[in-house]
Amino acid sequence: MIAMTRLVGKVVWITGASSGIGEAVALEAARGGAALILSGRRRDALERVAAACVAAGSARTALLPFDLADAQARAAACDLAPSLLGPIDIVVLNAGVSQRATFLDTAPEVFDRVMHVDFTAQADIVRRCLPAMVARRSGCLLAIASVAGLAGAPRRPAYSAAKHALAGLFQNLRADLVGSGVRIVTVYPGFVRTAVDRNALAGDGTPAGVEDPDVAGGFDPAPVARRIVRAALSGAVEVRVAFDVRMRLGVFLSRHAPALWASLAHRHAEAAWLAERAGRR
Ligand SMILES: NC(=O)c1ccc[n+]([C@@H]2O[C@H](COP(=O)([O-])OP(=O)(O)OC[C@H]3O[C@@H](n4cnc5c(N)ncnc54)[C@H](OP(=O)(O)O)[C@@H]3O)[C@@H](O)[C@H]2O)c1
Repeated sequence: MIAMTRLVGKVVWITGASSGIGEAVALEAARGGAALILSGRRRDALERVAAACVAAGSARTALLPFDLADAQARAAACDLAPSLLGPIDIVVLNAGVSQRATFLDTAPEVFDRVMHVDFTAQADIVRRCLPAMVARRSGCLLAIASVAGLAGAPRRPAYSAAKHALAGLFQNLRADLVGSGVRIVTVYPGFVRTAVDRNALAGDGTPAGVEDPDVAGGFDPAPVARRIVRAALSGAVEVRVAFDVRMRLGVFLSRHAPALWASLAHRHAEAAWLAERAGRR
């Protein structure tokens, strides 16, 4: 059991803190007494989350809104972050956007946008935050990947590719940084009940705006956030959360019986797609 008191005096920067998993992680870290930097694009949503974090026990909170897709804004945010509440102890790279379109139905610029937000921008934040952690010989970088970063998921071509890339980068960093004092943690969520499905991009880049039955029937964000915060404080390096038996079997089959898995995943995705479209009418 990890003592949450280990968060007192720690500065935690959470991207994508304005909703879903990031919001739940912020609240959980606040209960442990962490000082929080909350990022996302929507300032009003961040203000709501910050107020809830203060009520939950966070000593200090700061808002740092920016768009991950904007390289200049991202660089400015990384420069500013350590001056807000002191040196950053934990960065939770959680912000991301999903997809609901096949590869051929996804416009090339939409594919690139998802790759940029879900991978390139994450790598850029790592590049900018890591030197200070290495210099202090302490810190934790925690990436929220996905089950789609373990097994390519239907109708999520760039999302699956980006989450695989993120997982690969974090495995590389872990090996490169052995003995540095910096912890590199990857979390792979299964389905979690958030707005990820409604915010997912259609092939033309507009929000898909529909409820995915898998996400709607997924795990509650609060216990998922508890596991994530515990992972940041423990010796864990690769953590699967919101993984039911079906999810575990899917990842196993994708490795050991990939053709069978592809056919099962295709059938399941077609059924989910029909249900989503029925819900849209
Ligand atoms: N829910 C699931 O089933 C599931 C499963 C596996 C992995 N995940 C991963 O979990 C993470 C959180 O997703 P969620 O489920 O909590 O969905 P969500 O409620 O849609 O949250 C996504 C967060 O990312 C932020 N974000 C999106 N695009 C951004 C951009 N361009 N710049 C800055 N911030 C941006 C959003 O903030 P603003 O809108 O304010 O910008 C929001 O706070 C994502 O990386 C997702 O891939 C989710």
